Amino acid sequence: MNAKPFVKWAGGKGQLMGELGKRLPSEILQDGVIPRYVEPFVGGGAMFFHLQGRYEIRESYLSDNNADLILTYEVIKKDAQRLIDELLEIESFHLQKSEDERKENYYRIREAYNSQKIDHQTMSQEWIERAAYFIFLNKTCFNGLYRLNSKGLFNVPFGRYKNPTICDGKNLKAVQDYLKDTNLFQGDFTDSKEYINEESFVYLDPPYRPLNHTSHFTNYSKEGFNDDSQKKLANFFKETDEKGAKLMLSNSDPKNQDEGDKFFDELYSDFNLERIPAKRNINRDASRRGKINELIVRNYH
Ligand SMILES: C[S@@+](CC[C@H](N)C(=O)[O-])C[C@H]1O[C@@H](n2cnc3c(N)ncnc32)[C@H](O)[C@@H]1O
Repeated sequence: MNAKPFVKWAGGKGQLMGELGKRLPSEILQDGVIPRYVEPFVGGGAMFFHLQGRYEIRESYLSDNNADLILTYEVIKKDAQRLIDELLEIESFHLQKSEDERKENYYRIREAYNSQKIDHQTMSQEWIERAAYFIFLNKTCFNGLYRLNSKGLFNVPFGRYKNPTICDGKNLKAVQDYLKDTNLFQGDFTDSKEYINEESFVYLDPPYRPLNHTSHFTNYSKEGFNDDSQKKLANFFKETDEKGAKLMLSNSDPKNQDEGDKFFDELYSDFNLERIPAKRNINRDASRRGKINELIVRNYH
């Protein structure tokens, strides 16, 4: 069975995989082999799951700065069955309740998650519970968002779903299989540098530069990802290009909002930058449906 992302993730690349998949380095498309795969903003992992289902990845390094997301990947890798058992219990308790009681149960678990003190370094029984809370919150919160307030507490409200799938055991087992030989770590994207060499294919999907001033898609962590972070990432792109790695980066196109915005065109002027249509921001009223592009930057053709 092909595994798919086990969380809904803002900016998840599921819908763009067709376009991204066509733009992989030609060696991968021809030989079917990826000697080393590095993904420093792995999120829900749409690209990793796509590649793992189609190509032979010999070595992989997946990371993100969201500590609980990585903890959950680790738990699935090491003990998917215990996580499934825990989630099934949470699921049956939740789904037998009325809408109002589900809401109450959601806030009870959110509170338990926020007050849990967790050692992210050493795996323990508490990791199983935390991973289960993490998946439960992701599947039942508003829009599957992950947002922390300035105190680092998860503050997304309850989402209304008729029958949310909280435990997809089959998929979690398939994900475990995909993760078998991966190296997972929590950290800033710059921490990946030491794993990148001339054999590497690196996919970079940083938090979006907001399309307008009211969308705050970049709030995955309490630090945020501002224009200075985007510039630091462009430097990282240049440095790893010099190591001989093949690089692909995606981002939202600020030109969707402001034709004159050349932010990324300038940052990546030495590289191959393309704009492809994306299906985001769909407005029911066709006349108000703007053309939304996504940016893809590569250091190869
Ligand atoms: C657009 S999402 C990636 C989505 C992913 N491609 C998918 O298909 O689900 C960006 C990710 O970057 C992570 N992130 C934010 N700042 C970071 C940083 N400084 N270093 C590493 N990861 C970071 C967020 O936690 C989030 O998971």
